[in-house]
Amino acid sequence: MLHDPNRIYIFDTTLRDGEQVPGSQLTTPEKIIIAEALEKLGVDVIEAGFPISSPGDFQSVVELSKAIREPIICALTRANKGDIDCAAEALKFAKRPRIHTGIGSSDMHIQYKFNSTREKILERGVEAVKYAKQFVEDVEFYAEDAGRADNVFLAQMIEAVIAAGATVVNIPDTNGYCLPEQYGEKIKFLKENVKNIDQAIISVHCHNDLGLATANSIAGLHNGARQVECTINGIGERAGNTSLEEVVMILNTHKALGYHDLININTKHLYGLSGMVSRMMRMPVQPNKAIVGKNAFAHSSGIHQDGFLKHRENYEIINPEDVGIDSADIVLTARSGRAALKHHLERLGYTIEKIDLDHTYQKFLELADEKKEVKDDDLLKLMGADETNYKNGISINSIKVTTGDQEQPEAEINLHFNGEDHTATATGNGPVSATINAILTVLKKDIEIKEFNIHSIHGGSDDVSKVDMRVMFEDKSYMGYGFSTDIVRASANAYLDALNKFV
Ligand code: KIV
Ligand code: ZN
Repeated sequence: MLHDPNRIYIFDTTLRDGEQVPGSQLTTPEKIIIAEALEKLGVDVIEAGFPISSPGDFQSVVELSKAIREPIICALTRANKGDIDCAAEALKFAKRPRIHTGIGSSDMHIQYKFNSTREKILERGVEAVKYAKQFVEDVEFYAEDAGRADNVFLAQMIEAVIAAGATVVNIPDTNGYCLPEQYGEKIKFLKENVKNIDQAIISVHCHNDLGLATANSIAGLHNGARQVECTINGIGERAGNTSLEEVVMILNTHKALGYHDLININTKHLYGLSGMVSRMMRMPVQPNKAIVGKNAFAHSSGIHQDGFLKHRENYEIINPEDVGIDSADIVLTARSGRAALKHHLERLGYTIEKIDLDHTYQKFLELADEKKEVKDDDLLKLMGADETNYKNGISINSIKVTTGDQEQPEAEINLHFNGEDHTATATGNGPVSATINAILTVLKKDIEIKEFNIHSIHGGSDDVSKVDMRVMFEDKSYMGYGFSTDIVRASANAYLDALNKFV
């Protein structure tokens, strides 16, 4: 047996079945970027394309075969020599090549697609496997439309292709027809009635026409399947394929099933990969999509937010960080309570003791009435607008910075300090240091910056930057935080936040 029956193999077909979505075609370089990310995620098999279908698909399989070392690279064919020759040629650089060949198995396909008989179709399947075996050791056979096929005939077909050398047998629910019980029964039937079934891995390949693809795949695993074919974000023809992130997180969340130890996925890459596939394939992820949707971890009702903040597991079965999402973003709305507001202000670096929470909450409610959702930058503005929340001795009236690679950065600052406005100009080795020097020119104090960190809150070049700073003054250290869409302004705010603690 070529593959380990005590593992669950994750077979990703984003670049083949997923890419069949009209308008989502990728270039070869884009496919390489996604394949490298899939390799990092830890998938076992990458279905790279259907080489006979176009020169572009052929080239993609060639290039992915060269670029990817760890996962098996798989190429799809129909059950004929021309397709198989082409796939074998495209796979010639692959370290671990697999040919995925097959034919229809339901009477519907046999009669109306092939105008043939069960016997002849079975024979074509067997011949295709034997032919593919001449090129590669690892041959997967798919029995198309197995979801609607007669189980007795399906079992005969599967037994014959395993005898011909198939290492993996794929039982696709091509039309997304089955109920989980039916699909599970089908896999069980094959397990119990195919004499040589232990010589191959059973693979599940489910489509989502009735929204059951993930449930059917799990039912397949319960009944002995050991490979799941799936796509990132569940993309694929019509309603799509089984979603990789859902399967992986089901196995990881339900540890009692014992499946989590049988896969090898670094779940922290799931969210990033979902965004990458969505952007490159121009397929937005629905906000309520399980695991990777924008709202998947966003608690908006006051009751949920309060319960969540008391104990995360009250309302969350997955830690968002486990799938690569930065701290659970509770969306603030007019229904959010004080606890949620306090949580967000602290996350943004406000020391809550300095804030009159009741007063701030009233202002927040006014803002939330105007806007549907209150985001981080709205909160920052809210806090900035409410000067009474801070014991600010020094505040900035204006900053003007000139910089460039041909001139020394220079900052002109106007500060309100000791009841008066002061203007100063200074240079520095960058716009931030010029601004800090200008502030020091006004204050005339010996202050040293010990730590300086810039973070973006959501990612993206138009994002709000959060700066934290630790400064030393007369042997004591003081922390300051500042926010702005402008890094210079965020740095100046952080510096003054620290200075206001002792000046
Ligand atoms: O859905 C299906 O049957 C397929 C096969 C070609 C594997 O995608
Ligand atoms: Zn499919």
